[in-house]
Amino acid sequence: MLKPAAPAAAARAAARIVSVEPRLLEVVRLGHPVLRSVAEPVPEEWFATGRLEKLGRDLIRTMLEEDGVGLAAPQVAEELRLFAYWLPVHDGEAEIEPTIVVNPEIRVVDPVLEEGWEGCLSIPGLRGVVPRARRIKVRGRTVDGEALSLTADGFHARVIQHEFDHLDGVVFLDRMTSTRSLTFEEEWERYRVTDPEPDDD
Ligand code: NI
Repeated sequence: MLKPAAPAAAARAAARIVSVEPRLLEVVRLGHPVLRSVAEPVPEEWFATGRLEKLGRDLIRTMLEEDGVGLAAPQVAEELRLFAYWLPVHDGEAEIEPTIVVNPEIRVVDPVLEEGWEGCLSIPGLRGVVPRARRIKVRGRTVDGEALSLTADGFHARVIQHEFDHLDGVVFLDRMTSTRSLTFEEEWERYRVTDPEPDDD
């Protein structure tokens, strides 16, 4: 159902607000070629421009409205190396405010792999168990071009590795060691699947 038509003045005011507020972007789904492409580094001249800041804000708004914890630029059909993420309180870990990481590099600090459930806004409805490195170091830039450096563990490290993969055209399905855990979200909730099954392969 559509909203009733707004009077012309109200429509103009709404248009002004929309033009400065972050936009809701379309999230592309698996099958769109951009999800299988290697994204380009953000060019130096883009830093500290409204263009990059706006893309960052649009990514964050879209991620939050779609109930995601991460969203990479290729998922909104922008072939650029940046992503948004945030962390709600999870397993006692502190919340992290929505953050944009531009031109990231990842170094694995603790190569021990931990299994955990993942889903993806570009693969709606499905979840699967994915092994990820337990601890990573991330270096990158902010949208203003400032250096950004952080260490991430556990779920934090998982989210960043998932988003980083999108920049190289990799999705979580590619990282699964077996498809046996692949589950629709509804069934996941219904059967209260909480722990990855031991992998006997
Ligand atoms: Ni994803």
